[in-house]
Amino acid sequence: MENLCLFLILTIGFLSWCQNPVNSEVINGDGDDLFTLIAIGKELKVVGWEEDKLKNTSNYCSWPHITCTSNQFVEKIVLSHLNLQGNLTLISRLKSLKWLDLSFNTFHGPIPQSFANLLDLEFLDLSYNKFDGSVPIELGKLIKLKSLNLSNNLLTGSIPNELEGLVNLQDLQLYTNSLNGSIPNWVGNLTNLRVFTAYENELSGKIPENLGAFSELQLLNLHSNYLEGSIPKNVFANGKLEFLVLTQNKLSGVLPDSVGNCKDLSSIRIGDNGLIGNIPKEIGNLSSLTYFEADNNNLSGEIVQEFAQCSNLTLLNLASNGFSGIIPSVLGEMINLQELIVSGNSLFGEIPTSVLSNNNLNKIDLSNNRFNGSIPQSVCNSSRLQYLLLGQNSLTGRIPNEIGNCVKLLELQLGSNYLTGTIPPEIGKIKNLQIALNLSFNRLHGELPLDLGKLDKLVSLDLSNNQLTGNIPLALKGMLSLIDVNFANNHLTGPIPTFAPFQKSPNSSFLKNEGLCGYPLTSFCGSSNGPQSFNHKVSYKTVLVVIGSGLLVFTSVTIVVILFTMRENQEKLAKMVGKEDEEVNDDSQPFVILGNVFVENLKQAIDFGIVVKATLKDSNKISSGTFSTIYKVEMPSGLTLSVKRLKSVDKTILHQQNKMIRELERLSNLCHDNLIRPIGFAIYDDVALLLHQFLPNGSLARFLHESSKEQGYKPDWPVRLSIAVGVAEGLAYLHHLAIIHLDISSGNIFLDSNFNPLVGEVEISKLLDPSRGTASISAIAGSFGYIPPEYAYTMQVTAPGNVYSFGVVLLEMLTTRAPVDEEFGEGVDLVKWVQGAPTRGETPEQILDAKLSTVSFTWRKEMLSALKVALLCTDKIPAKRPKMKKVVEMLQEIVENK
Ligand SMILES: *[C@@H]1O[C@H](CO)[C@@H](O)[C@H](O)[C@H]1NC(C)=O
Ligand SMILES: *[C@@H]1O[C@H](CO)[C@@H](O)[C@H](O)[C@H]1NC(C)=O
Ligand SMILES: *[C@@H]1O[C@H](CO)[C@@H](O)[C@H](O)[C@H]1NC(C)=O
Ligand SMILES: *[C@@H]1O[C@H](CO)[C@@H](O)[C@H](O)[C@H]1NC(C)=O
Ligand SMILES: *[C@@H]1O[C@H](CO)[C@@H](O)[C@H](O)[C@H]1NC(C)=O
Ligand SMILES: *[C@@H]1O[C@H](CO)[C@@H](O)[C@H](O)[C@H]1NC(C)=O
Ligand SMILES: *[C@@H]1O[C@H](CO)[C@@H](O)[C@H](O)[C@H]1NC(C)=O
Ligand SMILES: *[C@@H]1O[C@H](CO)[C@@H](O)[C@H](O)[C@H]1NC(C)=O
Ligand SMILES: *[C@@H]1O[C@H](CO)[C@@H](O)[C@H](O)[C@H]1NC(C)=O
Repeated sequence: MENLCLFLILTIGFLSWCQNPVNSEVINGDGDDLFTLIAIGKELKVVGWEEDKLKNTSNYCSWPHITCTSNQFVEKIVLSHLNLQGNLTLISRLKSLKWLDLSFNTFHGPIPQSFANLLDLEFLDLSYNKFDGSVPIELGKLIKLKSLNLSNNLLTGSIPNELEGLVNLQDLQLYTNSLNGSIPNWVGNLTNLRVFTAYENELSGKIPENLGAFSELQLLNLHSNYLEGSIPKNVFANGKLEFLVLTQNKLSGVLPDSVGNCKDLSSIRIGDNGLIGNIPKEIGNLSSLTYFEADNNNLSGEIVQEFAQCSNLTLLNLASNGFSGIIPSVLGEMINLQELIVSGNSLFGEIPTSVLSNNNLNKIDLSNNRFNGSIPQSVCNSSRLQYLLLGQNSLTGRIPNEIGNCVKLLELQLGSNYLTGTIPPEIGKIKNLQIALNLSFNRLHGELPLDLGKLDKLVSLDLSNNQLTGNIPLALKGMLSLIDVNFANNHLTGPIPTFAPFQKSPNSSFLKNEGLCGYPLTSFCGSSNGPQSFNHKVSYKTVLVVIGSGLLVFTSVTIVVILFTMRENQEKLAKMVGKEDEEVNDDSQPFVILGNVFVENLKQAIDFGIVVKATLKDSNKISSGTFSTIYKVEMPSGLTLSVKRLKSVDKTILHQQNKMIRELERLSNLCHDNLIRPIGFAIYDDVALLLHQFLPNGSLARFLHESSKEQGYKPDWPVRLSIAVGVAEGLAYLHHLAIIHLDISSGNIFLDSNFNPLVGEVEISKLLDPSRGTASISAIAGSFGYIPPEYAYTMQVTAPGNVYSFGVVLLEMLTTRAPVDEEFGEGVDLVKWVQGAPTRGETPEQILDAKLSTVSFTWRKEMLSALKVALLCTDKIPAKRPKMKKVVEMLQEIVENK
């Protein structure tokens, strides 16, 4: 049948060619190429390659996506990002082809063996498709090939030995497939090899000993495999290496001294392996080094002072190893250092003041070591420090008053040390403190300073297990963002002030303070302070919210900052726009400085003045996160909006205002039933408002965890399954556009009146674009419990990471349990709890929500199938997780097989 079609195409093509004699150039070339292209165009539906183009007297060499040789043979075809699929066999007839780029399409099935006929081929890019099966050994015949890219497909089996004929290869990219077996030795014999990537596969065995020995290898990335043995010395032999990424394998042995040969080496990422030995002193020879990450190994010895010579070093992560000794003070010479992470070692001595005085330092994590000495007075003399993490050490002395200079801090961890003295009131000057203030398990005494009440952004406050005295001051009611408090095991006295965050805390937050009374404790304070009738019992969830929002701080801060910079930089333009948008001249009414509605036919329906006014009334509040509050706003036009109000945090950094507007606009054009689109934005005073459609049924989290507890709740498995399909479709669509979501959680999935799910917070994902730049090293992984395990090593949110988070949401729907729950036990989240069921001797049925799984045999069967999908999605190995599109298919299959 297909042959017949082809015949017809060729015939028609030929006939039209006869009727409209094409200019002689074509005949000079090869009439065959023309017919081949028409047939390919028809098979793949390439716009611009249709037959009627033949009537055009100019030749096919001017068609889109095509380049010809001087004598009219097709030499180069670039058909990327066109969503093409179909049979590619015919391409092998274009005998002069040197360059073939089919990346970012949806081609599937095996890679055509017939490509082996393209003997002139130098560049072959089949990446980002759905090719499956094994790599055809026939490709070994393409001896002129310089670049082979098969990344991001579904290829299985091993890397064939038969490819050893590809002696001219410069670039070999095989990442994100399911290739297994070992890396063949011929790869090491390639004399021109510059780029070799095979990360996120299932490769095992050793890295070939001769890799790099004969070639000028520049980039080697093999992370997330099962590779063992040591890092071959030869990798560094030629001294040209620029990037080395071997994270998350089973490598052993030492980091070879020869690493010092590579003057251009800028990135070394060897974390999460079993490496041993010292860091070689030759590391100091790497003047270009910007990124050194070797956490979670078994490295030992001292932190070599030669690091100081790496003046471009931005991140040094040596966490969870066996390093001992002190932090050499010369490390202060690394003037570009932004993050120093050495937690979980056996380091001791003083906190290095030279490092702290570095102007670029953003994060210092010395926790879980044996640092003794005291916190230096110069702690924040000149720093941008946002994270000061000194917990679980042996620090002594007082907390210096100068801690108040750390005005940029988001998190301050000093717990589990031997700190004495009182809590300095200057701590109230750290107005940015948001994620946590932890002074627990020390020897602090005296009263709580009233200035603590000034920390109005702080979410988590832990002062437990000290010797603090006096009352809990009423001034602490100024801590408006507080969710999690702990005052337990001190000598505090008097009534617990009536303040929602206190009353919502479990009584364990106040226990072991003999003089303390009032709700949530059971001890009465006399008549004036009876128990309050608050909705109590805050549980683990609060803690989760805290941790989750902590992680999100950066995201929100950044967005807000972008918005403000935008405002400040565009003050002039703003005034003009403002006049247009501002309609209310009420004095109490803030002035909208800048705003826009992206959706043309809603422009008339939205009145910024009314939007702003509505967000000033608490009665319109639907939900309140720590960094944003959501309001329901009704327009006189009848339109109902959900308005997200972002709070001002910081007005520094970033010059991305135009980019932000463009991105918001672009996102507003994203058309998918399962994605929430931004409708517009408005800015006034220090507040930014993002406008979205209003969704009456709230979030999936509410649906799962609150409505299922209500009286008269009806088991709803089919609804949940269809929600799962919808969410998966929304995410698959985002991935198709190469957009990675930064915060998938049931709290960010909303339900419309038909319980159709819509994924929210898409704009955050796009605006931050974590794939670019190292500036935001501390960028964000999402909400606690949903964060994929590999994030700890890669610090990158990826599509497989999204699949993991989706898997957690699916587990949530199957079990009606939160992603983290005290009941799971210490350090166990929902994923681990589900995965651990077999070892606990529980059957899958025992973890499913029995209210659903016992309704009918069909429901139970479907839930078990969905559980399989969820387990695939939450596989520890990112490469093993299915792509989002595959997830959609698997879930749809469950729906259809009813
Ligand atoms: C023929 O094709 C060329 C290139 O696609 C185009 O520039 C030209 O306008 C076309 N001529 C006609 C008559 O369609
Ligand atoms: C692709 O087309 C060729 C003929 O052009 C045919 O032999 C082959 O079977 C087709 N492949 C598939 C997967 O349909
Ligand atoms: C595939 O690899 C080649 C060689 O490294 C590279 O030039 C090309 O950009 C890659 N393709 C994609 C889509 O990244
Ligand atoms: C590689 O995977 C294939 C299935 O894709 C399997 O048949 C084969 O045994 C595996 N080989 C190794 C060495 O694990
Ligand atoms: C690689 O080259 C070495 C010598 O240069 C040779 O002995 C060996 O057989 C080659 N290996 C492969 C797999 O081609
Ligand atoms: C490389 O490092 C070693 C050890 O630190 C040092 O002795 C040597 O001089 C360095 N070589 C160069 C070229 O900088
Ligand atoms: C450090 O980085 C800058 C900017 O990337 C670069 O220009 C400079 O050459 C680097 N310094 C060294 C010693 O490599
Ligand atoms: C780490 O190294 C120490 C000493 O070299 C050894 O005792 C220990 O077993 C190693 N641990 C692992 C997990 O390899
Ligand atoms: C810190 O610990 C080291 C090693 O145990 C010890 O030599 C040093 O005297 C201690 N310093 C202080 C200030 O306690």
